[in-house]
Amino acid sequence: MKPINIGLMGVGTVGGGTATVLKRNAEEISRRAGREIRLFMAANRDLARAREVVGDGVPLVDDAFQVVNHPEVDIVVELIGGDTIAKELVLKAIDNGKHVVTANKKLLAMHGNEIFARAQEKGVMVAFEAAVAGGIPIIKALREGLSANRIEWLAGIINGTSNFILSEMREKGADFADVLKEAQRLGYAEADPTFDVEGHDAGHKLTIMAAIAFGIPMNFDNCYLEGISQLEGKDIQYAEELGYRVKLLGLTRRTDKGVELRVHPTLIPEDQLIANVNGVMNAVLVRGDAIGQALFNGPGAGALPTASAVVADIVDVARLLTSDPEHRVPHLAFQPDRLQNLPILPM
Ligand code: HSE
Repeated sequence: MKPINIGLMGVGTVGGGTATVLKRNAEEISRRAGREIRLFMAANRDLARAREVVGDGVPLVDDAFQVVNHPEVDIVVELIGGDTIAKELVLKAIDNGKHVVTANKKLLAMHGNEIFARAQEKGVMVAFEAAVAGGIPIIKALREGLSANRIEWLAGIINGTSNFILSEMREKGADFADVLKEAQRLGYAEADPTFDVEGHDAGHKLTIMAAIAFGIPMNFDNCYLEGISQLEGKDIQYAEELGYRVKLLGLTRRTDKGVELRVHPTLIPEDQLIANVNGVMNAVLVRGDAIGQALFNGPGAGALPTASAVVADIVDVARLLTSDPEHRVPHLAFQPDRLQNLPILPM
Protein backbone atom coordinates (compact mmCIF):
# COMPACT_ATOMS: atom_id res chain seq x y z
CA MET A 1 0.00 0.00 0.00
CA LYS A 2 1.20 3.52 -0.79
CA PRO A 3 2.80 5.27 2.21
CA ILE A 4 1.21 8.37 3.71
CA ASN A 5 3.39 11.32 2.79
CA ILE A 6 4.17 14.00 5.34
CA GLY A 7 5.19 17.50 4.28
CA LEU A 8 6.89 19.19 7.22
CA MET A 9 7.00 22.99 7.35
CA GLY A 10 9.44 24.35 9.94
CA VAL A 11 12.41 22.36 11.20
CA GLY A 12 13.06 24.18 14.49
CA THR A 13 12.82 22.67 17.97
CA VAL A 14 9.47 20.91 17.49
CA GLY A 15 10.05 20.17 13.79
CA GLY A 16 13.35 18.52 14.67
CA GLY A 17 11.65 16.52 17.43
CA THR A 18 8.93 15.43 15.01
CA ALA A 19 11.50 14.19 12.47
CA THR A 20 13.28 12.30 15.26
CA VAL A 21 10.12 10.63 16.60
CA LEU A 22 8.89 9.69 13.11
CA LYS A 23 12.24 8.01 12.43
CA ARG A 24 12.86 6.47 15.84
CA ASN A 25 9.41 4.93 16.27
CA ALA A 26 8.63 4.38 12.57
CA GLU A 27 7.56 0.78 12.97
CA GLU A 28 5.18 1.32 15.87
CA ILE A 29 3.74 4.50 14.38
CA SER A 30 3.03 2.85 11.03
CA ARG A 31 1.52 -0.22 12.74
CA ARG A 32 -0.83 1.99 14.74
CA ALA A 33 -1.74 4.09 11.72
CA GLY A 34 -2.34 1.07 9.48
CA ARG A 35 -0.05 2.46 6.75
CA GLU A 36 3.58 3.39 6.43
CA ILE A 37 4.13 7.04 7.37
CA ARG A 38 6.96 8.70 5.50
CA LEU A 39 8.60 12.09 5.93
CA PHE A 40 8.27 12.98 2.25
CA MET A 41 9.69 16.52 2.21
CA ALA A 42 10.51 19.38 4.55
CA ALA A 43 10.68 23.14 4.26
CA ASN A 44 12.91 25.41 6.30
CA ARG A 45 14.50 28.78 5.76
CA ASP A 46 17.87 27.46 6.95
CA LEU A 47 18.45 24.45 4.71
CA ALA A 48 21.79 23.50 6.29
CA ARG A 49 20.22 23.25 9.75
CA ALA A 50 17.27 21.29 8.37
CA ARG A 51 19.67 18.85 6.66
CA GLU A 52 21.46 18.21 9.97
CA VAL A 53 18.11 17.41 11.61
CA VAL A 54 16.32 15.31 8.99
CA GLY A 55 19.43 13.57 7.59
CA ASP A 56 19.94 12.52 4.00
CA GLY A 57 17.16 11.20 1.84
CA VAL A 58 14.44 13.77 2.67
CA PRO A 59 14.08 16.46 -0.04
CA LEU A 60 14.38 19.96 1.41
CA VAL A 61 13.00 23.24 0.10
CA ASP A 62 13.21 26.78 1.43
CA ASP A 63 9.76 27.75 0.14
CA ALA A 64 6.98 26.16 2.22
CA PHE A 65 4.41 26.78 -0.55
CA GLN A 66 6.17 23.97 -2.45
CA VAL A 67 5.03 21.66 0.35
CA VAL A 68 1.37 22.73 0.40
CA ASN A 69 1.21 22.63 -3.40
CA HIS A 70 2.97 19.29 -3.85
CA PRO A 71 0.48 16.78 -5.30
CA GLU A 72 1.98 13.84 -3.41
CA VAL A 73 1.86 15.37 0.08
CA ASP A 74 -1.08 13.92 2.07
CA ILE A 75 -0.60 15.64 5.43
CA VAL A 76 0.93 19.08 5.90
CA VAL A 77 2.54 19.60 9.31
CA GLU A 78 2.76 23.31 10.13
CA LEU A 79 5.43 24.09 12.73
CA ILE A 80 6.40 27.56 11.55
CA GLY A 81 4.37 29.45 14.16
CA GLY A 82 2.85 32.93 14.09
CA ASP A 83 -0.26 33.97 12.22
CA THR A 84 0.98 35.62 9.04
CA ILE A 85 2.71 33.25 6.61
CA ALA A 86 1.51 30.23 8.61
CA LYS A 87 -2.11 31.32 8.07
CA GLU A 88 -1.61 31.65 4.31
CA LEU A 89 0.05 28.25 4.16
CA VAL A 90 -2.61 26.49 6.21
CA LEU A 91 -5.48 27.98 4.19
CA LYS A 92 -3.72 27.08 0.95
CA ALA A 93 -3.13 23.52 2.17
CA ILE A 94 -6.84 23.21 3.06
CA ASP A 95 -7.88 24.62 -0.32
CA ASN A 96 -5.60 22.04 -1.94
CA GLY A 97 -7.49 19.30 -0.06
CA LYS A 98 -4.60 18.47 2.28
CA HIS A 99 -5.05 17.48 5.90
CA VAL A 100 -3.23 19.71 8.36
CA VAL A 101 -1.52 19.04 11.67
CA THR A 102 -0.40 22.14 13.53
CA ALA A 103 1.10 23.12 16.87
CA ASN A 104 0.22 26.76 16.26
CA LYS A 105 -1.89 28.02 19.16
CA LYS A 106 -1.73 31.68 18.14
CA LEU A 107 -2.99 30.86 14.66
CA LEU A 108 -5.95 28.86 15.98
CA ALA A 109 -6.85 31.20 18.85
CA MET A 110 -6.87 34.21 16.49
CA HIS A 111 -8.11 32.68 13.23
CA GLY A 112 -9.51 29.27 14.20
CA ASN A 113 -13.12 30.21 13.38
CA GLU A 114 -12.15 30.94 9.77
CA ILE A 115 -9.69 28.04 9.41
CA PHE A 116 -12.04 25.37 10.72
CA ALA A 117 -14.97 26.69 8.67
CA ARG A 118 -12.77 26.32 5.57
CA ALA A 119 -11.68 22.82 6.66
CA GLN A 120 -15.32 21.79 7.09
CA GLU A 121 -16.16 23.13 3.66
CA LYS A 122 -13.28 21.23 2.05
CA GLY A 123 -13.76 18.03 4.09
CA VAL A 124 -10.25 17.91 5.53
CA MET A 125 -8.88 17.45 9.04
CA VAL A 126 -7.11 20.13 11.02
CA ALA A 127 -5.57 18.48 14.09
CA PHE A 128 -3.86 20.49 16.83
CA GLU A 129 -3.09 18.42 19.91
CA ALA A 130 0.39 19.95 20.14
CA ALA A 131 -1.03 23.48 20.30
CA VAL A 132 -2.06 23.08 23.96
CA ALA A 133 -0.02 21.80 26.90
CA GLY A 134 2.79 20.20 24.89
CA GLY A 135 2.78 16.42 25.31
CA ILE A 136 -0.38 16.19 27.45
CA PRO A 137 -3.22 14.84 25.27
CA ILE A 138 -5.69 17.37 26.66
CA ILE A 139 -7.48 18.10 23.36
CA LYS A 140 -8.12 14.39 22.87
CA ALA A 141 -9.22 14.16 26.52
CA LEU A 142 -11.73 17.02 26.14
CA ARG A 143 -13.17 15.89 22.81
CA GLU A 144 -13.09 12.12 23.33
CA GLY A 145 -12.53 10.93 26.90
CA LEU A 146 -14.78 13.60 28.44
CA SER A 147 -17.36 13.89 25.65
CA ALA A 148 -20.11 12.58 27.97
CA ASN A 149 -19.65 15.48 30.38
CA ARG A 150 -21.05 18.94 30.75
CA ILE A 151 -17.76 20.70 31.43
CA GLU A 152 -18.21 23.24 34.22
CA TRP A 153 -14.73 24.75 34.37
CA LEU A 154 -11.10 24.07 33.71
CA ALA A 155 -7.95 25.60 35.12
CA GLY A 156 -4.44 24.96 33.96
CA ILE A 157 -0.77 25.68 34.18
CA ILE A 158 -0.38 25.93 30.42
CA ASN A 159 2.79 27.91 29.88
CA GLY A 160 5.89 25.86 30.62
CA THR A 161 8.26 28.82 30.48
CA SER A 162 6.36 30.77 33.15
CA ASN A 163 6.05 27.71 35.34
CA PHE A 164 9.77 27.02 34.94
CA ILE A 165 10.56 30.61 35.93
CA LEU A 166 8.24 30.61 38.96
CA SER A 167 9.57 27.23 40.11
CA GLU A 168 13.23 28.26 39.84
CA MET A 169 12.53 31.60 41.56
CA ARG A 170 10.94 29.73 44.46
CA GLU A 171 13.32 26.77 44.73
CA LYS A 172 16.64 28.47 44.01
CA GLY A 173 15.89 32.11 44.67
CA ALA A 174 16.94 32.61 41.04
CA ASP A 175 16.55 35.84 39.17
CA PHE A 176 13.64 36.25 36.70
CA ALA A 177 15.86 37.31 33.77
CA ASP A 178 18.40 34.49 34.25
CA VAL A 179 15.73 31.79 34.37
CA LEU A 180 14.04 33.22 31.28
CA LYS A 181 17.37 32.96 29.41
CA GLU A 182 17.69 29.34 30.52
CA ALA A 183 14.14 28.58 29.30
CA GLN A 184 15.07 30.10 25.92
CA ARG A 185 18.26 28.03 25.78
CA LEU A 186 16.28 24.87 26.48
CA GLY A 187 13.86 25.65 23.63
CA TYR A 188 10.77 26.16 25.84
CA ALA A 189 10.14 29.84 25.17
CA GLU A 190 8.29 31.42 22.24
CA ALA A 191 10.24 33.32 19.57
CA ASP A 192 9.08 36.44 21.41
CA PRO A 193 9.29 35.43 25.10
CA THR A 194 7.01 38.27 26.19
CA PHE A 195 4.25 35.98 24.86
CA ASP A 196 5.19 33.53 27.62
CA VAL A 197 5.69 35.87 30.54
CA GLU A 198 2.81 38.27 29.78
CA GLY A 199 0.19 35.51 29.52
CA HIS A 200 -0.48 35.66 25.76
CA ASP A 201 0.63 32.10 25.07
CA ALA A 202 -1.48 30.80 27.96
CA GLY A 203 -4.39 32.91 26.66
CA HIS A 204 -4.11 31.33 23.22
CA LYS A 205 -4.17 27.84 24.74
CA LEU A 206 -7.03 28.71 27.08
CA THR A 207 -9.05 30.09 24.16
CA ILE A 208 -8.65 26.79 22.31
CA MET A 209 -9.53 24.63 25.31
CA ALA A 210 -12.61 26.73 26.11
CA ALA A 211 -13.78 26.41 22.50
CA ILE A 212 -13.54 22.61 22.70
CA ALA A 213 -14.84 22.25 26.26
CA PHE A 214 -17.91 24.50 25.83
CA GLY A 215 -18.47 24.30 22.07
CA ILE A 216 -18.08 28.07 21.64
CA PRO A 217 -16.22 30.15 19.04
CA MET A 218 -12.55 31.01 19.57
CA ASN A 219 -12.68 34.19 21.68
CA PHE A 220 -9.14 35.32 22.35
CA ASP A 221 -10.17 38.98 22.31
CA ASN A 222 -12.29 38.44 25.43
CA CYS A 223 -9.55 36.72 27.40
CA TYR A 224 -8.20 38.71 30.36
CA LEU A 225 -4.38 38.52 30.37
CA GLU A 226 -1.97 39.25 33.18
CA GLY A 227 1.50 37.70 33.19
CA ILE A 228 4.29 37.13 35.71
CA SER A 229 6.77 39.83 34.73
CA GLN A 230 5.74 42.09 37.63
CA LEU A 231 6.30 39.38 40.25
CA GLU A 232 9.32 39.63 42.50
CA GLY A 233 11.11 37.02 44.57
CA LYS A 234 9.56 38.46 47.73
CA ASP A 235 5.99 37.94 46.41
CA ILE A 236 6.77 34.26 46.02
CA GLN A 237 8.41 34.07 49.46
CA TYR A 238 5.51 35.80 51.24
CA ALA A 239 3.04 33.47 49.52
CA GLU A 240 5.12 30.52 50.70
CA GLU A 241 5.16 31.77 54.30
CA LEU A 242 1.35 31.84 54.16
CA GLY A 243 1.18 28.28 52.74
CA TYR A 244 0.57 29.13 49.07
CA ARG A 245 2.34 28.68 45.75
CA VAL A 246 2.12 31.27 42.99
CA LYS A 247 1.17 29.77 39.60
CA LEU A 248 0.23 31.37 36.30
CA LEU A 249 -3.20 29.84 35.68
CA GLY A 250 -5.50 29.92 32.68
CA LEU A 251 -9.10 29.60 33.88
CA THR A 252 -12.38 29.29 32.05
CA ARG A 253 -15.80 28.56 33.49
CA ARG A 254 -19.49 28.81 32.81
CA THR A 255 -21.34 31.25 34.98
CA ASP A 256 -25.03 32.20 34.91
CA LYS A 257 -24.08 35.23 32.88
CA GLY A 258 -21.75 33.55 30.39
CA VAL A 259 -18.30 32.06 29.89
CA GLU A 260 -15.33 33.71 31.52
CA LEU A 261 -11.75 33.42 30.26
CA ARG A 262 -8.78 34.68 32.24
CA VAL A 263 -5.05 34.22 32.71
CA HIS A 264 -3.28 35.60 35.79
CA PRO A 265 -0.93 34.68 38.62
CA THR A 266 -2.90 32.78 41.24
CA LEU A 267 -2.28 31.75 44.85
CA ILE A 268 -2.87 28.02 45.29
CA PRO A 269 -2.78 26.25 48.69
CA GLU A 270 0.44 24.21 48.79
CA ASP A 271 -1.35 20.94 49.58
CA GLN A 272 -3.17 20.98 46.21
CA LEU A 273 -1.66 18.67 43.57
CA ILE A 274 -1.62 21.40 40.95
CA ALA A 275 0.40 23.65 43.29
CA ASN A 276 3.19 21.07 43.14
CA VAL A 277 3.52 20.95 39.36
CA ASN A 278 6.97 22.41 38.83
CA GLY A 279 9.46 23.23 36.11
CA VAL A 280 8.34 23.02 32.50
CA MET A 281 5.51 20.67 33.44
CA ASN A 282 1.94 21.68 32.63
CA ALA A 283 -1.27 20.50 34.30
CA VAL A 284 -4.93 20.98 33.47
CA LEU A 285 -7.64 20.41 36.08
CA VAL A 286 -11.05 19.79 34.51
CA ARG A 287 -14.41 19.71 36.26
CA GLY A 288 -17.10 17.74 34.46
CA ASP A 289 -20.56 16.91 35.84
CA ALA A 290 -20.07 13.15 35.41
CA ILE A 291 -16.37 12.61 36.09
CA GLY A 292 -15.99 15.21 38.86
CA GLN A 293 -12.45 16.58 38.81
CA ALA A 294 -9.62 15.12 36.75
CA LEU A 295 -6.03 16.35 36.60
CA PHE A 296 -3.94 15.93 33.46
CA ASN A 297 -0.24 16.44 34.04
CA GLY A 298 2.86 16.22 31.85
CA PRO A 299 5.58 18.09 29.98
CA GLY A 300 4.24 21.30 28.48
CA ALA A 301 7.03 22.18 26.06
CA GLY A 302 10.23 20.84 24.53
CA ALA A 303 11.14 19.04 21.34
CA LEU A 304 10.16 15.42 21.99
CA PRO A 305 7.12 15.94 24.27
CA THR A 306 5.57 18.32 21.76
CA ALA A 307 6.54 16.02 18.89
CA SER A 308 4.70 13.24 20.72
CA ALA A 309 1.48 15.24 20.30
CA VAL A 310 2.25 16.20 16.67
CA VAL A 311 2.87 12.58 15.69
CA ALA A 312 -0.24 11.38 17.55
CA ASP A 313 -2.24 13.74 15.32
CA ILE A 314 -0.46 12.42 12.23
CA VAL A 315 -1.50 8.91 13.29
CA ASP A 316 -5.11 10.08 13.75
CA VAL A 317 -5.23 11.60 10.28
CA ALA A 318 -3.51 8.52 8.83
CA ARG A 319 -6.22 6.32 10.36
CA LEU A 320 -8.81 8.42 8.56
CA LEU A 321 -6.85 8.00 5.32
CA THR A 322 -6.89 4.23 5.66
CA SER A 323 -10.72 4.26 5.71
CA ASP A 324 -12.89 3.89 2.62
CA PRO A 325 -12.74 7.26 0.75
CA GLU A 326 -16.43 6.96 -0.18
CA HIS A 327 -17.47 7.00 3.47
CA ARG A 328 -14.73 9.16 4.92
CA VAL A 329 -15.99 11.90 7.24
CA PRO A 330 -13.25 13.94 8.93
CA HIS A 331 -14.34 14.74 12.47
CA LEU A 332 -12.92 18.06 13.57
CA ALA A 333 -12.33 18.69 17.28
CA PHE A 334 -13.68 22.20 16.71
CA GLN A 335 -16.78 22.37 14.55
CA PRO A 336 -17.90 25.89 13.61
CA ASP A 337 -21.33 24.66 12.45
CA ARG A 338 -22.12 23.05 15.82
CA LEU A 339 -21.40 25.80 18.30
CA GLN A 340 -23.42 26.85 21.34
CA ASN A 341 -24.65 30.38 21.61
CA LEU A 342 -23.24 31.13 25.07
CA PRO A 343 -22.48 34.74 25.98
CA ILE A 344 -18.80 35.46 26.61
CA LEU A 345 -18.17 37.76 29.55
CA PRO A 346 -16.21 40.92 28.75
CA MET A 347 -12.80 41.27 30.41
N1 HSE B 1 6.44 28.67 24.99
C1 HSE B 1 5.53 27.62 25.28
C2 HSE B 1 5.59 27.29 26.75
C3 HSE B 1 5.87 26.42 24.43
O1 HSE B 1 6.53 27.73 27.41
O2 HSE B 1 4.70 26.61 27.25
C4 HSE B 1 4.82 25.38 24.37
O3 HSE B 1 3.62 25.87 23.83
